[in-house]
Amino acid sequence: MTIDHGIKTIGIIGSGQMGGGIAQIGAVHGFKTIIYDLSDNALTKCKTLHEKLLARAVQKERMTQNEAAAALANITYASNIEALDPSDIVIEAVVENADIKKQIFADLATRFTGNQILATNTSSISITDIATSVGDAADRFIGMHFFNPVPVMKLVEVINGLATSQETTDRVLALSTAMGKVAVPANDRAGFVSNRILMPMINEAFYAWMEGVAEPEHIDQIMTLGMAHPMGPLRLADFIGLDTCQHIMEVMAEGLNNPRYLACPLLKQLVTAGRLGNKTGQGVFDYPQK
Ligand code: 3HC
Repeated sequence: MTIDHGIKTIGIIGSGQMGGGIAQIGAVHGFKTIIYDLSDNALTKCKTLHEKLLARAVQKERMTQNEAAAALANITYASNIEALDPSDIVIEAVVENADIKKQIFADLATRFTGNQILATNTSSISITDIATSVGDAADRFIGMHFFNPVPVMKLVEVINGLATSQETTDRVLALSTAMGKVAVPANDRAGFVSNRILMPMINEAFYAWMEGVAEPEHIDQIMTLGMAHPMGPLRLADFIGLDTCQHIMEVMAEGLNNPRYLACPLLKQLVTAGRLGNKTGQGVFDYPQK
């Protein structure tokens, strides 16, 4: 049986890599997409990236010029939050900070009092915890965890909070499919499934480096060539952001109440030094700024 998700317009909060990617795939799959960010500069960067990626898709003959133009026309870039009003779902993709997310959702719950869905793209913070900020709307609150780069990665990890209704879950599973993704459910435990397994592997790669088991490039080579991973764990950590990796480990150590999830001292040291990965030009490896 096909579930009618009833969604025509997708609102997104945050125009960074994740929010921008979600907006792009929504627009490409025919949804009206409104992307809201406080920063005009961030919105301009996001729009430029959309234009570039869609032009590349045309060049690679993955879509026609008309389809790319239609996708771009589906996206509204807005720095006023009222622009989100027509949304049937709002997906939040801002910084991984529970207090900031709760503030955002407390406000959204007063703006969206119908049957709109409120979703967070958090990578590890408890859905049940963030849902405490939305009061009676907790049944319409859910986790939609996308993966970077969003236009390439097929998965959306869908996480119910304790109060999420079956209707909300069914609509989000159907919406994810309509956005061209494969939705897979996971339960609301710190790190869900993806980061519960990925982050300890990345953390272990830092321990292997710290203990001199091998050089960073050799650790990565062993995992790419031996395990067919598209990127080695250390390059992937740079890609995700070392601060994000450390933060997710900390959320898991606290949320799962288990010291085995503590971040490796070498990972923490690089973060302290401001070596956060691709975004700062240096992490485990160097990334000369273009
Ligand atoms: N946006 C859109 N498309 C992108 C992109 C981006 N940011 N980056 C790469 N691509 C596309 C390219 O356009 C290219 O498509 P094409 O061949 O059709 O033109 C395709 O991806 C391959 O790119 P490249 O040839 O430039 O490079 P690679 O073959 O090395 O692939 C990669 C790059 C897709 C990033 C690949 O290395 C990969 O899959 N890495 C692993 C990524 C991963 O594990 N992501 C999950 C991170 S964890 C996460 O997000 C969860 C969070 O909670 C931490």
